[in-house]
Amino acid sequence: MKIKVFAPTNLAFIKYWGKKDAKLRIPANSNLSVCLDRLGTITEIEFDKKFSEDSVEIDGKISEGRERDRVVKHLDRIRNLAKVELKAKVVSKNNFPKSAGLSSSASGFAALSLSGSKAIGLNLPEKDLSRLARIGSGSACRSISSGWVEWVKGDDDKNSYAYSIFDEKYWDLRVLVVILSLKRKRVETTDGHKVARTSLFFKTRLENVEKRLEKMKRSIEKKNFSELGELMELEALSMHAVMLTSKPNLVYWLPETVRVIQAVQDWRKERLESYFTINTGQNVFVVCKPKDEDELMEKLEKIKGVIEVKKDRIGKGARII
Ligand code: DP6
Repeated sequence: MKIKVFAPTNLAFIKYWGKKDAKLRIPANSNLSVCLDRLGTITEIEFDKKFSEDSVEIDGKISEGRERDRVVKHLDRIRNLAKVELKAKVVSKNNFPKSAGLSSSASGFAALSLSGSKAIGLNLPEKDLSRLARIGSGSACRSISSGWVEWVKGDDDKNSYAYSIFDEKYWDLRVLVVILSLKRKRVETTDGHKVARTSLFFKTRLENVEKRLEKMKRSIEKKNFSELGELMELEALSMHAVMLTSKPNLVYWLPETVRVIQAVQDWRKERLESYFTINTGQNVFVVCKPKDEDELMEKLEKIKGVIEVKKDRIGKGARII
């Protein structure tokens, strides 16, 4: 059977940075994200006896090396679950630039897990799909369910998965994706995770991050935007403090990144309220209320070095299209 799915990328407000188990991708801390509505990956997959080997195409190019290996390994997991040996043809397309801090691995592995499991005849419940996606790329487990999603860290393969705490309609916030460079990031995320523990600040972060998660959940329950935003910024800076002090150190920011951070903070003083977060990479995500979206977009586009600003909102999880 040929199956086509869309999986959104997601934006972490409490980050996954550092793993307890690298192979199973068990995170060091529980974390929280929102699924985006438009930005994501469309994947079409077919298993058939006419294929003598797996073929993987991403964004119009045949995958090779590490990228291909990661996909083929995931296909093997799906084949093992279904006890089927057929080879597959995978064609995947991201509607945003890959490797620029926009979590293409999150939407990519969520899309591959849903499409692959369906195409091979499995009908996995949401929890098991999330677990499967997690082994492909940790953050992918948060792109299966809709809206506001918590990944409970757990301590083994069975109890580490993500689920929706509020659906996409619960609270209409907007996300402006500020693209500052289309270059691939300097260090791949998976390699970054490996050095997280070498930072002096990692332990301190770990002692505090779950308290922050609980506080953030309360701010979401109350729909208190200022509280949510302040926690979101503190969290992004706390993750980058770990990155900056790891061995080797990871400096993902560009001068333009700092320019956007400071602009957002200055505008707040003028009562235009928005908050930033950043992943691995140079690009900045600005979260705001719907009424301020257009004004912020206009202002962001005028900042020197901004290539493009993409508008998005909170959306549903992975689905068949
Ligand atoms: C900074 O899920 O991409 O975006 O499990 O090695 O594939 P792997 O890592 P990945 O890490 C995401 C890191 C982050 C923060 C986050 O999304 O929580």
